[in-house]
Amino acid sequence: MSSTSSHAPEPLYGGSPTGRRVTVRDLAEAKVRGEKWPMITAYDALTARVFDEAGIPVLLVGDSAAMVVYGHDSTIPVTVDELLPLVRGVVRGAQRAMVVADLPFGSYQASPAQALETAARFMKEAGAHAVKLEGGARVLPQVELLASAGVPVMGHLGLTPQSVHAFGGYRVQGRGEDGARLLQDAKALQSAGAFSVVLEVVPADLAAQVTEALAIPTIGIGAGAATDAQVIVWQDMAGLTPGRTAKFVKKYADLHGVLLEASRAWAGDVVSGAYPGPEHAYE
Ligand code: KIV
Repeated sequence: MSSTSSHAPEPLYGGSPTGRRVTVRDLAEAKVRGEKWPMITAYDALTARVFDEAGIPVLLVGDSAAMVVYGHDSTIPVTVDELLPLVRGVVRGAQRAMVVADLPFGSYQASPAQALETAARFMKEAGAHAVKLEGGARVLPQVELLASAGVPVMGHLGLTPQSVHAFGGYRVQGRGEDGARLLQDAKALQSAGAFSVVLEVVPADLAAQVTEALAIPTIGIGAGAATDAQVIVWQDMAGLTPGRTAKFVKKYADLHGVLLEASRAWAGDVVSGAYPGPEHAYE
């Protein structure tokens, strides 16, 4: 049974961790208030719990799992069956955050019916609260059907990684004349019923223009400071991703170094016999 609730606005970031789940309506109201908010990726229950405790209102189970969970060199190979258990874990780990499931490559492009079937799996089998898909004009029929079926849809424009081979590599999108097309795509996604749109690796001026033109929130990644929200792959932000990261990444921790030190210390203690000590043993 559903119950109605009075809707006193609380700040999106850092709102009560024991309160009700964040909804698309909260995100729409934050745009009206001019309040910025963070979205971060999560792929398991424990990290979801940390990010939820931090007050982050939206968690994305991105198809970036292909790279950071499954070790592929692009997002293309990951399947619905591989993402479903990750979404399940994140939904169980987060009490307050809205959980968005990314529709992987090949799971929605064929037809609106295919998109609805995939979205329904993420919602019914894993408990996702919304889905994200990549593309503009070419996915409008999908967005329309999903929205009319009651599925909250997040759009994704710019450097959409599922199209990396068509782009000829990971490059800035929307420069020059392409900017007008991206703006059109963003408006069309909004008209088709999307509740928000990710703008990935596009010029900051263009992202500002799109943010100004849309009534729905824009979520930037490598899109400058003017978007309504920002999203990041958590391993990039926390310094777990090896090697060089993109220009837009700022490292807030050195998790690689911390885990390396901890695992070396533990392994050394095992080898020397210092661990386990008597305090770790049962009588
Ligand atoms: O898959 C992902 O993590 C994403 C974000 C980077 C937007 O799509």
